[in-house]
Amino acid sequence: MSDYVLGIDLGTSTTSVSVVQDGMATVIPIIGEEEDKVMPSVVGFSNRGETITVGKKAKDLRHLNPVNTIYSIKRVIGRNFSHPETQKYARRFPYKVVQGKNDSVEIEIFGRRVTPQMILSLVLKKAKKAAREYLGEEVNDAIITVPANYNEAQRRATQEAGRLAGLNVLRIINEPTAAALAYGFGANRNEKIAVFDFGGGTFDITILEVNNNIFSVLATAGDSFLGGDDIDAAIVQFIIYDIEQTYNVQMMLDSEMMIILLTEAERIKIELSKEEKVSVLVKNLIPYKDETYLDYERTFDRRLLEQIVDPIISRCFDICKTAMTDSHLSVTDLDAVIMVGGSSKMPRVQQRVSEFFQQPPYFGIESVLVISMGASIMGHTLSAGYSETAPTLLDVVPLSLGVGSVGDYIEVLVDKNEPLPLERKEIFTNAADNAENVKIAIYQGGGQSKKQSHLMGELTLADIRRARRGELKIEVTFEIDTNGVLNVSAVDLDTGRMQKITLNILGLEQGA
Ligand SMILES: Nc1ncnc2c1ncn2[C@@H]1O[C@H](COP(=O)(O)OP(=O)(O)OP(=O)(O)O)[C@@H](O)[C@H]1O
Ligand SMILES: [Mg+2]
Repeated sequence: MSDYVLGIDLGTSTTSVSVVQDGMATVIPIIGEEEDKVMPSVVGFSNRGETITVGKKAKDLRHLNPVNTIYSIKRVIGRNFSHPETQKYARRFPYKVVQGKNDSVEIEIFGRRVTPQMILSLVLKKAKKAAREYLGEEVNDAIITVPANYNEAQRRATQEAGRLAGLNVLRIINEPTAAALAYGFGANRNEKIAVFDFGGGTFDITILEVNNNIFSVLATAGDSFLGGDDIDAAIVQFIIYDIEQTYNVQMMLDSEMMIILLTEAERIKIELSKEEKVSVLVKNLIPYKDETYLDYERTFDRRLLEQIVDPIISRCFDICKTAMTDSHLSVTDLDAVIMVGGSSKMPRVQQRVSEFFQQPPYFGIESVLVISMGASIMGHTLSAGYSETAPTLLDVVPLSLGVGSVGDYIEVLVDKNEPLPLERKEIFTNAADNAENVKIAIYQGGGQSKKQSHLMGELTLADIRRARRGELKIEVTFEIDTNGVLNVSAVDLDTGRMQKITLNILGLEQGA
């Protein structure tokens, strides 16, 4: 058995894997991937599904096989098919998203159905294999990171992806906490920090307090539809607009051309993080006479890119304001702003971060690797040979919690960002005359709307006193400990009859 524990950042766009070796968090090479380190979280199926390609090669061939190349699948893992976010996203995927059992999400490939867990397990398998090749031994234990605002179903599904890849997932930890560990573990810091994570699909900002090896989240906020993908889409929109204005034509793009343009947009964006200017040439793009096409050629500079993407970048700072308010701190209280994610490499993003936070951003650890490195540090402290102080991770409630009421309405008992542990009590009553039982349904996320929320569990108080609507008094208590274990009890105050249920808002027993 190996003593190593892998730290895996399973991102929407890219995945990386690290391990602590000789006391140092080390990124495991994945040969043939971007800089031999960062693997696109993309899986391509060809040859009737017999051939599976994972990573850069699958991404590079995406335009030739749009229907059978699965990317950004993390968006829908652990989600219900009918959830508005799934519906919104499914419309953007060229591949076929279908409804599975119990309203789950499935993908149809060559007539066969696979789950998002299975797809992500293929990415994880490749990460595991790279670790075996690098370390010369099979490593099974791993920590996988997830966005801080994941609900319990999304966390459980991520763990299942790990299990399907043959991994023993010791813990699922939050991405921003992992970044904070990479920054502060073992460094004797007493600081308040922000983790600014601008990735491919999502933007997240988390405010933490680091006191030696105690990492307390103070507030977290984010938008799961704000990332580099939106920047690429905005550049494509601009190209279409540019052509339509210049040539007075109507552009109609098929999915192959759309992917080619999105790939080109990403290249423009990434090159402009280094260069001032970049020239673009897309062959046969502009419709011309007699079914012939003209090439699209122009130079993009940083200023043009800024004009195109500034409205998108601005949205990050509205979210930063919310997080700062929730944390009860002001930007001048922060000792560092840790930059995470590929989109944080854009000079314009860095400039605006400096302006907003009134300090230069911290880039001491490579922004696309910092999360997997932090996860490997967490893993190391759980490994057999480790005997020093382990980190203490103190979280906030990632998503609001409440009890279902009539119609689509949820009575919220616990707000997002409340520190753990906590206890809340509220009196509920019967919604119907002479009901035989009262059902208490516990929802996570989505505020006051059931449709936007995840149903975590239910308990039923049976054989209650027959009463007119509004007459009964049912006291519901939510108690959550620092591991995310939620004990819900409902007491009929007339009879003292009680029912209880135990759930976990973080999806699994942390440290179990
Ligand atoms: N040098 C660069 N300049 C600008 N953007 C970049 C650069 N390098 C990568 N990106 C962009 O970063 C994004 C990927 O970032 P990252 O790998 O952090 O995402 P992720 O962690 O997979 O996604 P998420 O955090 O949303 O789950 C892509 O949109 C990519 O185009
Ligand atoms: Mg990420």
